Amino acid sequence: MNELEKRIEKLTEELKKALSKATDDETIEAIRIQFLGRKGALAQLMTQLKALPIEEKRVVGPLLNEFKIKAEQSLSDAQEALIARQQKIKLEKLQFFDVTAYKQKALQGHTHIYSQVIQQLEDIFISMGYEIADGPEVETEYYNFEALNIPADHPARDIQDTFWLTNPGWLLRTHTSPVQIHETQKQGAPLAIVSLGRAYRHEALDASHGFMFQQHEGLLVGKDISISNLLATVKAFLQKFFEKEDLDIRVRSGYFPFVEPGLEVDASCPFCTKGCSVCKGTRWIEMLGAGLVHPNVLRSGGIDPEIYSGFAWGGGIERLAMIKYGINDIRLFTSGMVEFLDQF
Ligand code: PHE
Repeated sequence: MNELEKRIEKLTEELKKALSKATDDETIEAIRIQFLGRKGALAQLMTQLKALPIEEKRVVGPLLNEFKIKAEQSLSDAQEALIARQQKIKLEKLQFFDVTAYKQKALQGHTHIYSQVIQQLEDIFISMGYEIADGPEVETEYYNFEALNIPADHPARDIQDTFWLTNPGWLLRTHTSPVQIHETQKQGAPLAIVSLGRAYRHEALDASHGFMFQQHEGLLVGKDISISNLLATVKAFLQKFFEKEDLDIRVRSGYFPFVEPGLEVDASCPFCTKGCSVCKGTRWIEMLGAGLVHPNVLRSGGIDPEIYSGFAWGGGIERLAMIKYGINDIRLFTSGMVEFLDQF
């Protein structure tokens, strides 16, 4: 056996050994280059072959050829084996896929804070025997003002900066009080309704004012209805809403043309007894406006004020939510900020 034949045998061994250790594509490719590449082991032997006498060439030439074919086969076998191994690993992983191991919290939608608070309020009022009434947001001057005892030249119209529509006499309601008129006209007396919904005022935006806000409005009409009925009702509702049985209320006189007398209702601070940042150290928080329904308003609704009397209250929904949940900016409600909304 001459030198070259020995080299071929050795190379065959070396190739076998190298491939047995190869575990990825890159290594197999490197081995291919090392043995069969343009400057690889086989190419070098081919150069040496050229220098041999013809008889030897006849022997060694076919051996080199055979080596090349076998080497190519071994390389492609190794590649196939590698693919099979990789597939097996993939399959094993699939078989042992742990469905409980996925820990990322799934994003889930929920009702908006507005809807949540409106729901809470509606539940409270329904439990107190009130019926929920709806009214239009686009109103006439008559329902928003006149019928509520606010005539055209009345100074109270200045309090409510109004969005007037291009149709004369039409506007975006500035409060939910027009629902009082719609419902009394529709139902007559006695009645007990609550209406919750949007109101609009042409106001500069800041942390406590928006051009759109939500109000709730209660109206009860019956016989011999007095201020004490009003106070008991408002107190019970605030106690339930703030989940505080010992919440107290106090009243100050207030002016709303559609009630007489008119009252501003404060509640004792639900969070402290000595004064805190929520009540600004005063222990009392302004909650809503209220009063006994003005006889002119009952008349607008077709109700005889000689027979019936009633009380009404109304106020902002955001305000109640902001106090209950410690929200410091009314603009957050309509901001669509997920970080804000996700807290409720
Ligand atoms: N409508 C009044 C407002 O917007 C609130 C109110 C309603 C006051 C009912 C008294 C009675 O401020």
